[in-house]
Amino acid sequence: MAINITFRQLRVFEAVANNSNFTRAAEELYLTQPAVSMQIRQLEGNLGIALFDHLGKKIFLTDAGKEFYKSSRNITQQLESVEEYLEELKGVRQGHLKIVVATTANSFATNLLATFIQRHPEITISLDVTNRQRLIETLESNESDLVIMGQPPEKLDLVADPFMDNPLVMIVGRGHPLYRKRAKSTFTPSEVEQYKFVVREKGSGTRTAMERFFRERELNLETSMEFGSNEAIKQAVQAGLGLAIVSIHTIKLELQAKVVRILDVEDLPIKRKWHLVYRKGKRLSPVAQAFRKFILEEGRESSV
Ligand code: PGA
Repeated sequence: MAINITFRQLRVFEAVANNSNFTRAAEELYLTQPAVSMQIRQLEGNLGIALFDHLGKKIFLTDAGKEFYKSSRNITQQLESVEEYLEELKGVRQGHLKIVVATTANSFATNLLATFIQRHPEITISLDVTNRQRLIETLESNESDLVIMGQPPEKLDLVADPFMDNPLVMIVGRGHPLYRKRAKSTFTPSEVEQYKFVVREKGSGTRTAMERFFRERELNLETSMEFGSNEAIKQAVQAGLGLAIVSIHTIKLELQAKVVRILDVEDLPIKRKWHLVYRKGKRLSPVAQAFRKFILEEGRESSV
């Protein structure tokens, strides 16, 4: 037997069954009551069996109606999830993503973005790289889809998911007297206090964490030079201009090339985490949702 029914009839049938009432079902579906009655009559006609019993003003599902209701729910639920999936796919295929990352996060963000773009080649992405202070302003003005930063600011109402460790270590360059001296031993923070440091610009998360580290131990942080990028910091350290505290993510190549060394200092590394952040209540686009899922999964899997 070929059953000739439509999805529209299934939706009307379910609404009537859920409400046990034609008028309420009609209101729910923004239809007139006669339109609903007609759909049900057609459906019962096509199936060749009554789905509802009418007792006075009340209606009840017949045994056949109860059976049909179960099958109908299966079909419409599947259809709904396919619709959702297709909607998401359409959005994810063609969207644009605006990401802002902390200067330091750029060292791994570009790789993650490259993998994401390989999976979704139609997506376009704009990536802005800036320091912590400017990141907070971006969040305040809701300019971006998602932000990758260190410690999220408490004064804003944010959704912030930690996804990767960000240890801050102290480094020394070949040109510095500490490079060879006591290469294997551990220094106390007060032993390194006597040396000059090169530091990131004000507003940098790394700089703030580093200053806190010294302040909490009532130590003086003597700075020789200030730079706006990790690249410049590393160059200065290699040239022996001072020690520095940087994210371990920024020095992979220099460690391999042995042009800088991590100094073993008590209470270091400073333990920080990378967070994926957006304003609470913000409606993420399908592309932004896909990127968030990707970062939280990939990031948690990547090692430092
Ligand atoms: P940065 O790093 O602002 O020093 O680049 C971000 C952070 O660690 O918060």
